[in-house]
Amino acid sequence: MHFIASLNDIRSLTRDLHRRGKIVTLVPTMGALHAGHLSLVRRAKADGGAVIVSIFVNPAQFGPSEDYARYPRNLDRDCEALAPFEPEAVFVPDASEIYPPGFETYVTPGKVAEEFEGSVRPGHFRGVATVVLKLLNLVTPDAAYFGQKDFQQTAVLRRMVADLDIGTRLVICPTVREPDGLALSSRNAYLDPDDRRAAVVLYRSLCCARELFHNGETNADTLVAAVREVVEAERRAEVVYATVVKPDALEPAARVTPGCVALVAARVGPARLIDNMILGPAGASDEELIQLALSSS
Ligand code: PAJ
Repeated sequence: MHFIASLNDIRSLTRDLHRRGKIVTLVPTMGALHAGHLSLVRRAKADGGAVIVSIFVNPAQFGPSEDYARYPRNLDRDCEALAPFEPEAVFVPDASEIYPPGFETYVTPGKVAEEFEGSVRPGHFRGVATVVLKLLNLVTPDAAYFGQKDFQQTAVLRRMVADLDIGTRLVICPTVREPDGLALSSRNAYLDPDDRRAAVVLYRSLCCARELFHNGETNADTLVAAVREVVEAERRAEVVYATVVKPDALEPAARVTPGCVALVAARVGPARLIDNMILGPAGASDEELIQLALSSS
């Protein structure tokens, strides 16, 4: 496992891999790796090829009052967690090389980035799209792996890849959850034990929407009202947004059809947590639901 910090070194490594006819794949992360991140690495590994894992806490995607400074960083532990997967390289660039003095060119996503996370975190997706495009340019991977957990992020990046004719295939992997259903997130570390217990309400609210959908309910307002009601019954949680949208442009879905996605964000104690669920036939696997969402528009 190479440990690479310099942009030139990652370029020459991936150029060499391509020259030797290897498939190259990329798993972009901000570190503080948990089983959710590692599931992407496992999937990339299983798909074959040389896996590059990037670890970069991207300043451009944090707002001025957000948690960039206190975002958890632990490179030694991350490398230990990655070692069993034997990635080809861990790419840990420095912010001063990714954004050198004079840097002023950004990717500005369109409507898909405006609402939900985009309106709560102005500029967030501009920072995400910019850094992901830079990583794709540096590594030139055949495929890059992202988690369904950040559904809007996947929609923004799918749009960017299509619009800018990027040759990398995006692979979306299911959300990894704690046994009680809470989606794994580096930000769960901010929760005290009571907030941690309360946080499961996001997942429960989505399960409630799913159950209604399975029972034939296709009115989005009814599903959204149910999500809100479940979250609001937990006094430690406060809904930031709840919606059911079409999976590509994230436009409102008046009638909910298979492949539509329920998105929820809630404040729980000091953290703002997000989760989502793709609605589809009862009994469909997470993988099948992702394929359904990616193939319906
Ligand atoms: P980060 O939050 O570190 O997440 C890295 C990847 O792990 C993302 O694709 C995210 O969706 C995925 N992930 C996080 N929690 C997950 C879970 N519980 N189950 C499955 N996958 C999960 O997302 C980012 O970093 C950044 O925005 C990045 C894309 C790296 C650009 O800076």
